[in-house]
Amino acid sequence: MSVVGKRVARAEGSERVKGAGLFADDYKYFGMLHAAVVRSPLARGEIRKIDFKTIAKIPGVAGILTYKDIPGRNCVPIVIDDQSFLAERYVNYIGEPIAIVVAENRQTARLAAAQAKISIEELPPLLNPLEALNHPKIHLFGNDNIYKHIHIHRGDVKKAFADCDVIIENEYHTPYQEHAYIEPQSMIAIPFPDGSIEIRGSMQCPFYVRKAITTILGLPENKVRVIQCATGGGFGGKEDVPSLLACQVALPAWIFKRPVKLIYDRTEDMMVTSKRHPAYIKYKSGATKDGILRAVEAEYIIDGGAYSTLSAVVLFRGSVHAIGPYKCENVDVHSYAVATNKVPTGAFRGFGSPQILFAVESQMDQLAEKIGMDPVMFRKKNILRVGDTTVTGQKLEYSVGLEETLDKVIEKSGWTPGKSKEDGVGYGISTIYYGVGLGAGGKSMARTGARVLVHADGSVLFSVGTTEIGQGMTTVLSQIVADELGAPLDWISMMPTDTSRVPDSGPTVASRSTTMSGNALKDACIKIKSVLLEEAASMLDCSTGDIIFDEGIVTGGGKTIKLLDVIKSCFAKRLPLSAEGWYITPSTSWDDNTGQGDAYVVYAWASNLAKVKVDKETGEVNLLKIWAAHDVGKAINPALAEGQIEGGTLQGVGYALMEDMTTNADGAIRNPEFSTYIIPTASDQPEIVPIIVEHPFPGGPFGAKGFGEQPLMGVAPAIANAVYDAVKVRIKDLPITPEKVWQGLKNK
Ligand code: MOS
Repeated sequence: MSVVGKRVARAEGSERVKGAGLFADDYKYFGMLHAAVVRSPLARGEIRKIDFKTIAKIPGVAGILTYKDIPGRNCVPIVIDDQSFLAERYVNYIGEPIAIVVAENRQTARLAAAQAKISIEELPPLLNPLEALNHPKIHLFGNDNIYKHIHIHRGDVKKAFADCDVIIENEYHTPYQEHAYIEPQSMIAIPFPDGSIEIRGSMQCPFYVRKAITTILGLPENKVRVIQCATGGGFGGKEDVPSLLACQVALPAWIFKRPVKLIYDRTEDMMVTSKRHPAYIKYKSGATKDGILRAVEAEYIIDGGAYSTLSAVVLFRGSVHAIGPYKCENVDVHSYAVATNKVPTGAFRGFGSPQILFAVESQMDQLAEKIGMDPVMFRKKNILRVGDTTVTGQKLEYSVGLEETLDKVIEKSGWTPGKSKEDGVGYGISTIYYGVGLGAGGKSMARTGARVLVHADGSVLFSVGTTEIGQGMTTVLSQIVADELGAPLDWISMMPTDTSRVPDSGPTVASRSTTMSGNALKDACIKIKSVLLEEAASMLDCSTGDIIFDEGIVTGGGKTIKLLDVIKSCFAKRLPLSAEGWYITPSTSWDDNTGQGDAYVVYAWASNLAKVKVDKETGEVNLLKIWAAHDVGKAINPALAEGQIEGGTLQGVGYALMEDMTTNADGAIRNPEFSTYIIPTASDQPEIVPIIVEHPFPGGPFGAKGFGEQPLMGVAPAIANAVYDAVKVRIKDLPITPEKVWQGLKNK
């Protein structure tokens, strides 16, 4: 490995720093219209009358479209087809799209949309997710308000609790979290005279977007081309939502035969696009006095909002991670994703696990304290190691670096549990894990394609179906291609992700890009390399097994030649130097009825240690330092891996301490702007110590496994545990605001 494992500069780094990247809003087309969305002002109601006469007369308005104008099916397909593209009779949340206005410029489109007259008969909304389980159903689909129920069951919980020496029982709550990607949702549709349509925009999942467009326009897949523009962050927020935006531009583009652009402004984006599910968790766990976790009983309810979108899959991940990275033989977890008349919630870095892990890791510290054991020792007695079995009955055969991550944060910090000399200072630990890829929750999509093309001058162009969303995929995949071909890194370029280049490769989610696209590229490169090897062998007059390719130099039979000369020789003989690669995740076994089976092919592991100082007057938590150790299998690029750790950790700091999104009494998001929804800035960044641990994944490219989401996941419980260590106040409701800590101090 010459390039893999090196801290090479990010492929798109210089373009980003110079502000030269082309984002959706940078594209302008001749005759382009601008769209704006007419939305429901009520959380639940029946549409009585729509009157567009006045706005149609506004100069510059080109047209107004409703569901009646949709040539295909009125549906945005995600998991279950319960979400309309444009509301027909009922509306189910504030902001639900009813019509699309297009105009010659953005201001006019927005002005007209705001003045549309729609009379809606209000129906009583269901806003409280805890009432959803027993509330008459609010949906046209299904029989109740439950999108998905999962039951994970092992052993005999009742009996096991009777054997426990200590039992801790609590309720936890976690709020919405807004993705706050720097670029709001943005999309353009361009119709072509041959009856095809091109979509360009900000997105994680071009193949989801294509499916939405083929559905609403009734087109075959070869008539819809989706190209990703430079994308200013996603974090899960651009997993399913871009499908809606693409419909909102594709319909008018199709009808009016002109390009159409739509960029949400920040408030609209925060009001109506997905967020992390708020969660309500009842958690009971018990241990023996020698520190063995014996029993867990939990109820996990997530608020899915008005349409199911990704809730069922989010719940799957949350449920599989519901006892944390521990051995436990007696488990009973019931989890529910429920419907309410609020904005649909969805994917967000961690995907259902940060919520439940906050409860799990808070419980672990309380059990340890009650036993009288330090929290590190208690975890050491229960963590998963190679050969152990997970809560779903999966035997772990490889790549379990959790203990090393725990040892590393202790070693680097020099912390001795139970000892913090300074007044108001505390330390908190968390240990977590993350199932890499879609696992049993998304089996049918667990495949990816790639194409590699070596040109006659040696330069290499590759295409994949996953997307660069700031995580560094382009760089990491270029490093993989360089080493697989034995070519220098600067020969390698990636095409923008485009559905016309590769077969449906599934979504860019679940920390799957490096392993999935990396393996597909490897498959393609092996095919090309076999041609190069044969040619090199004849040029060097030795056998293929004796040949080494390294950064453009080919050695064999005691001689050295240039890779470029081998490539030229192949071209002269018209040998093919392009190939398609394909990768399918090995099948996982999973039984939805028992909640048992192999949930994921491999897991990433992490330990976080937070050091805080709590102001006893104000309750303010000052996060001084955080050590974050992650088992990533193999860091293809350690600098980018550390970047993921730093970014994800800071996002976790926001979730832990600041980000507090709530709804008003009518169900609308109360604080849809950055003046009232506070996220961490550079000045809030604590000292973060990223630590990379490498327990190779045999099925990953060069041993790598995905871990991009994990850095966020263990931060909140580590901080909550540190606050308790500092001032003996246990916060069970995120975020840990000064008010809550102050109240806790006062109540003592
Ligand atoms: Mo991601 S939260 O799996 O889009």
